[in-house]
Amino acid sequence: MVLAVIGCLIGLSYAVPYKRNFKRYRQIKAILADLEALRDHPDYQDAVNINIEFFRVLRFPLSYLWWLMFRAPRLRRERLRIRELADLPFPGWQDELLETLSWFEIWMGRILRPIRQEIIRELERLRKIKKEPIVIASFGCGGMELERQILYQLLRSRFNFPLLVIGVDYSPAIKDVISRKFANLVSKGMLEIETASRLGADDLNKMKERAKGRRFSIVLFNTDAFELQALPENSFDLVYHTRLRHHLSLEERDRLDKLTIHLAPKFMELDDVYNIPGIMIESTFLWRFPVVLNGGIFSYLRDFSKKELKTLEGRGWQVNIYGRLLPCYLRVYEKGSGTNR
Ligand SMILES: C[S@@+](CC[C@H](N)C(=O)[O-])C[C@H]1O[C@@H](n2cnc3c(N)ncnc32)[C@H](O)[C@@H]1O
Repeated sequence: MVLAVIGCLIGLSYAVPYKRNFKRYRQIKAILADLEALRDHPDYQDAVNINIEFFRVLRFPLSYLWWLMFRAPRLRRERLRIRELADLPFPGWQDELLETLSWFEIWMGRILRPIRQEIIRELERLRKIKKEPIVIASFGCGGMELERQILYQLLRSRFNFPLLVIGVDYSPAIKDVISRKFANLVSKGMLEIETASRLGADDLNKMKERAKGRRFSIVLFNTDAFELQALPENSFDLVYHTRLRHHLSLEERDRLDKLTIHLAPKFMELDDVYNIPGIMIESTFLWRFPVVLNGGIFSYLRDFSKKELKTLEGRGWQVNIYGRLLPCYLRVYEKGSGTNR
């Protein structure tokens, strides 16, 4: 296995044209310069050092392999220390991560499929029983690739019921990425996008009122998800998040579960499952994209293992694992069910 990985990495690093390799090295150099500038910041010191080591070894396949074999297992044991490059205050690198992650999610459509299908099923159910617009909230929405896929699938199936999607994310990069992504639907008048600077119960009611006369609306709330704590119970029909949980501290994960359960009768969460083949596959295929490789590998090191996921089941929570090589899990909670669905 190790020899195969060495072969793949060396092959890839030399097989890609020199010009592209040069672009990759230039990007790593720019990232290292940004990290060095943040090195003395008391809030980020440890995370910056971990990232500097990662991007230094990423310059050469053999040093990266050494890191994978000897440093990554240690980081996995101390995973709460890990922060990705995109968790640090670099909007430019966050933008790059969100764009490339979206591209990856399009290319590997199945990595969003479990939650996409579950959300569409829920929308179809709600459409039959609701009189007001359906309101769903996506926490840590990032570039909203999941929502783009959902809207296109709804358009294809002629879903004709007002749908309001609230996207919550604190990254300043999301606005640009999302306006580029939905430009086509907006220009055809099929979708309206607004940004909100506050989201109290009254604001939400006004948004719902406006959504009544439209088919699909998106409201971007550029803030920390925990800012929504003051909203009344069941303000949304559904709350979900994808690849967000591993960004949070243990205390925040617990707090987010409580918040999502408070805000909607149903909650869904998708994230990856820690596994070594996944780390090998990402290392090989994302070698040319240092920012996404950093996000992918650091996420894996922070993710739940299959064994840990089993302990989350029960008391209204249902957990399913999908895929073998790049497994992800879907965790669903239904308020008041008290049992698995
Ligand atoms: C890996 S990205 C995933 C984006 C998107 N959900 C997807 O699956 O493509 C994680 C996102 O969560 C956002 N995020 C992390 N912690 C957050 C918080 N406390 N509140 C709001 N957004 C948060 C980050 O800014 C980032 O855009």
